[in-house]
Amino acid sequence: MPGRVFITRPIPEPGPSLVAEVAEVEINPEDRSLAPEELRAAVAGRDAVLCLLTDTIDAAVLDAARGCRVFANMAVGTNNIDVAAASARGILVTNTPGVLTDVTADLTWALILASARRVAEGDRAMRGGRFRGWGPLYLLGGDVTGKTLGLVGPGRIAAAVARRASGFGMRLLYNGRRPSPALEALGAEAAVLDRLLAESDFVSLHVPLTPETQHLIDAAALRKMKASAYLINTSRGPVVDEPALVAALKAGTIAGAGLDVYEDEPRMAPGLADCPNAVLLPHLGSATHATRSAMARMAAENLAAVLRGQRPPNLVNASLQC
Ligand code: DGY
Repeated sequence: MPGRVFITRPIPEPGPSLVAEVAEVEINPEDRSLAPEELRAAVAGRDAVLCLLTDTIDAAVLDAARGCRVFANMAVGTNNIDVAAASARGILVTNTPGVLTDVTADLTWALILASARRVAEGDRAMRGGRFRGWGPLYLLGGDVTGKTLGLVGPGRIAAAVARRASGFGMRLLYNGRRPSPALEALGAEAAVLDRLLAESDFVSLHVPLTPETQHLIDAAALRKMKASAYLINTSRGPVVDEPALVAALKAGTIAGAGLDVYEDEPRMAPGLADCPNAVLLPHLGSATHATRSAMARMAAENLAAVLRGQRPPNLVNASLQC
């Protein structure tokens, strides 16, 4: 066998089998993230590690993994990995782009519709025995059809969300550091963030987490949104200042929020769970059987390529030599 591989948590097939074809594999048998000291011990002496977004791969872990050739992340985002520190140590980092685009866009739409039409509140009312019959003023929400959808981030997931919006006859705005031909082909108009925030009925976040995007949506940004608007986040929690969002939801300076991600997962900011106008999901963006399996396959193929001495298809620190 050309290598020793550690998989940080049980993942779907065909991930483990593909890795086992090229290396000796050990898998953390427990469905939980390892504590930092457990992770450091587990990666020592490995040639490759298949890790997840719940693993913090910092300089200490990379040092413990001395001799390791690749950290193959089973996620499109790599904010859990100190990529610069990995590059400095000559360790490759790979991710799983593309395969989760459509399901993440689907879940974004689930949150858009659930927030506007108060789906979770209605479900809670039924289960709590509080439905007293149809009422002309009961649980009124916001319209979706014909409204303006503002997409923050010009990438693949934003374009997939925009494609779905055509069925709702929406006007599309987008914000990004570069023009997006894909979004513009769908009729989306580029807008600076302030304008997007001020004009959108739904502001949907699709940026990676970087120092520039951390707290991109802070109290000042929330104040720029319409009182009738909804904030949707299926990207990364720290893009939103969560306590500021709780304050806006409580004060009613925005109409609602649909969140799949949180600043300090699995915790939520105090008070968020008490906001009836927030629809809260537990980071389900890519959570379908087929997608998680595709992600596991992709991560395993990236890892196996490195162990075979090939360039992995989804190399993040692309300037490194393989
Ligand atoms: C990713 O891959 O970054 C997603 O958040 C996983 O759900």
